[in-house]
Amino acid sequence: MSLSYRVGVIPGDGTGPEVIAEGLKVLGTVMHGFELETIPFLIGGEHYLRTGETLPESVLAELKELDAIYLGAIGHPDAPPGVLERGILLRIRFELDQYINVRPVRAYPEMSLPVARVGPEEIDIVFVRENSEGLYVGAGGFTRRGTGEEVATQESVNTRRGVDRCLRYAFDLAREAGRRGHVTLAHKTNVLTYAGDLWARAFAEMAGSYPDVSTDYVHVDAACVYLVEDPGRFDVVVTDNMFGDILTDLGAALQGGLGVAAGANLNPGGVSMFEPIGGTAPDHVGMGTINPLAAIGALELMLRSLGEREAADRVETGISFAVSKMHSMRAGEMGFSTSEVGDLVVEGATR
Ligand code: IPM
Ligand code: MN
Repeated sequence: MSLSYRVGVIPGDGTGPEVIAEGLKVLGTVMHGFELETIPFLIGGEHYLRTGETLPESVLAELKELDAIYLGAIGHPDAPPGVLERGILLRIRFELDQYINVRPVRAYPEMSLPVARVGPEEIDIVFVRENSEGLYVGAGGFTRRGTGEEVATQESVNTRRGVDRCLRYAFDLAREAGRRGHVTLAHKTNVLTYAGDLWARAFAEMAGSYPDVSTDYVHVDAACVYLVEDPGRFDVVVTDNMFGDILTDLGAALQGGLGVAAGANLNPGGVSMFEPIGGTAPDHVGMGTINPLAAIGALELMLRSLGEREAADRVETGISFAVSKMHSMRAGEMGFSTSEVGDLVVEGATR
């Protein structure tokens, strides 16, 4: 009997639906030996503006029953900042306890890269971003809001359990085939002397149980310099939620742009969510100019996480083929339309 998966699809806003359509097109051509049912969920900015609803409880309950979630992008220019991000995207991450955000940064041969001195072979990093704590928990508040005496606080919450489970994931990943057995912790221990201290102690202790994995520590600001000047020094990089958010955008730029950057919000024992990390790209909506490779890369991550290695490998081959034909990874400069890039991936995946 072949395996059968139920995958929730949230195309979302902006260019989300366009890139998800390409991902599903690719999926249809690499599905062999398993079945996969897609269940659409039309939540997002449009739905919010029409109904005032972000993520209804009934939808949340349905999401918890799935095998995986495939998400396009969430965000709308007419919604107040934070409402959709906190109400949908972060709410799913938190409610489903997707405590790891994995963001691979790798360049393919023949890819045009923004940093001229860095060759594609030097770029093969996996960021492990803590995804359930830190500044993202929304702890803090205002006093005297709107007055000249206003005070706003925003607290970073770091639990030993949360940090340990994130570190353990990173160390296990460094041992996997294809990785180089090295984990770097990026933080700011010289200033964040409480949170940084916890992370550094937990990191040192975890390293003790992985004698075969080498480690180092970099301050997050220095990590930005190294990423541009010497990315080859990084294998697995583990960091907190906020630093991970920022570092992975830099990582995306390094690999050719947000058009190729894919991420996985993982709950290794539960329901995980896979997404392109570029957002809604309002300037490109409906023009056929957005790069679907990030969404297709997210599909690859999803298939790998479901255990469908052969299908995932095919998607990877397809992406590599598409990249070898494209002029640039940047939206509007690809030399192909969104759906033509999807077709190239299909061609490469099914040859
Ligand atoms: C990301 C995004 C989100 C984040 C936003 C949209 C809430 O920037 O996935 O990196 O900050 O995590
Ligand atoms: Mn981000």
